[in-house]
Amino acid sequence: MKISVLSLFPEMFSAMHASIIGKAQENNIIDLSIVNFREFARNKQKHVDDYPFGGGVGMLLKIEPLVEALESVIDLPAKSPKQRVILLDPSGKPFTQHLANEFSKADELIFICGHYEGYDARIKQYITDEVSLGDYVLTGGELAAMVMIDATVRLLPDVLGNNQSALSDSHANGLLEHPQYTRPREYRGMCVPDVLISGNHKLIDEWKERESLRQTLLKRPDLLEKHELTEKQLNILEELRHEL
Ligand code: ADE
Repeated sequence: MKISVLSLFPEMFSAMHASIIGKAQENNIIDLSIVNFREFARNKQKHVDDYPFGGGVGMLLKIEPLVEALESVIDLPAKSPKQRVILLDPSGKPFTQHLANEFSKADELIFICGHYEGYDARIKQYITDEVSLGDYVLTGGELAAMVMIDATVRLLPDVLGNNQSALSDSHANGLLEHPQYTRPREYRGMCVPDVLISGNHKLIDEWKERESLRQTLLKRPDLLEKHELTEKQLNILEELRHEL
């Protein structure tokens, strides 16, 4: 997958050389390039921002350096869904696991990271997705882009050591993951649930499903509204509600 990022602060992306995303680059699973769109500024002072027409607080990113930087990485217009041009903006649609899955099916992702008060609105002609990391305002889109790249790249084949682990993540099936334990079996009087050591896989799977539902009910009941539950899961939830 080819990933390009348009940013005024390329040095922030040094974090992408570490760990699993760094390995994905070394193994040529992703080809990540960071383009400083200041290089596409038109004047000698390399200005990429200007005052808003009609007045207003702060400066806006100008249209020309952004579009010309975009043209340096893809032929416009982008061919969605294989090519996605993603504008990071707190007013965009929220980033979710579902969107990470969608992004992971693309051949090419381009992230546009803003700074200052915002963008000249004409940039929207060139984008396929306007996405927010959450309902808060960051100083720029860089951290949001890194989070989205991380969540997307780990879903690509051969990125995680164990191909199964992305499937069992919290959110992967719309529910939170059940608690997990490793050795020792007992630590300061706290014991691993017996069932996990029983060797009975049917019972273990039932426990995992029940505890996944319990976590979701306790911490994120809103997810249960969105998730299509089986008859069995609805019964388990009924029991859990009584227990609590
Ligand atoms: N830029 C500033 N705040 C942001 C947010 N919440 N999500 C994406 N990009 C942003």
